[in-house]
Amino acid sequence: MSDLVIAIDGPAGSGKSTVARAVAALLGWSFLDTGAMYRAVTCEALFRGVDIDNDDAVAALADTVTLTTLPRVTVNGRDVEDEIRSDEVNVAVSVVAANPSVRASMVARQRELAAAQPLGTVVEGRDITTVVFPLASVKIFLTASLEERARRRGDEGEDSVARRDEADSTRVASPLRQADDALMLDTTGRDVDDVAQEIVQWLKRNLRN
Ligand code: DC
Repeated sequence: MSDLVIAIDGPAGSGKSTVARAVAALLGWSFLDTGAMYRAVTCEALFRGVDIDNDDAVAALADTVTLTTLPRVTVNGRDVEDEIRSDEVNVAVSVVAANPSVRASMVARQRELAAAQPLGTVVEGRDITTVVFPLASVKIFLTASLEERARRRGDEGEDSVARRDEADSTRVASPLRQADDALMLDTTGRDVDDVAQEIVQWLKRNLRN
């Protein structure tokens, strides 16, 4: 079991998942996409017809669902890998992610999952450097221009990406913000491997100190 964590936060399309996966592969560590967890809870709420705006009902659901993110995203045994990227989920997930009880439930699961890994975990999301793992070995805030982030999100479009960033950054519960001690990396026009290597070098430097 290991308490080594590389924590990565940033807005939609900043390259978090791609970079986090690449870093995990370089180190042989586990990878955790926490956005997929909020998306999976959202899928289940929509599937069961739970009113997304009913905080208590969605929180009760979040407490009881069985979730996996690897090798596929599943909720209560149902594969939602494709469904979590639908327009409907893109819109509803900001509401679910702003629910403080849902967040408490997801944060507890994220800490448990990371603690159970044999080597270390690369965790990416919006509150990983600030709330979930404030003492992580390395804290990274990834960003990129809105144009490039929307391009990476394919069909979602600039307006939808910008709307979600606004909701994620201005909500009361654990808003997206750069931690004071997080290293800011702008991935606009940068190669994934190059960014991943920089993060691994940063880890080695921090572990030596
Ligand atoms: O990274 P993503 O686009 O898959 O995230 C989906 C939504 O979940 C997004 O609106 C922000 C939210 N989220 C969050 O609030 N906290 C996290 N740790 C991860 C994602």
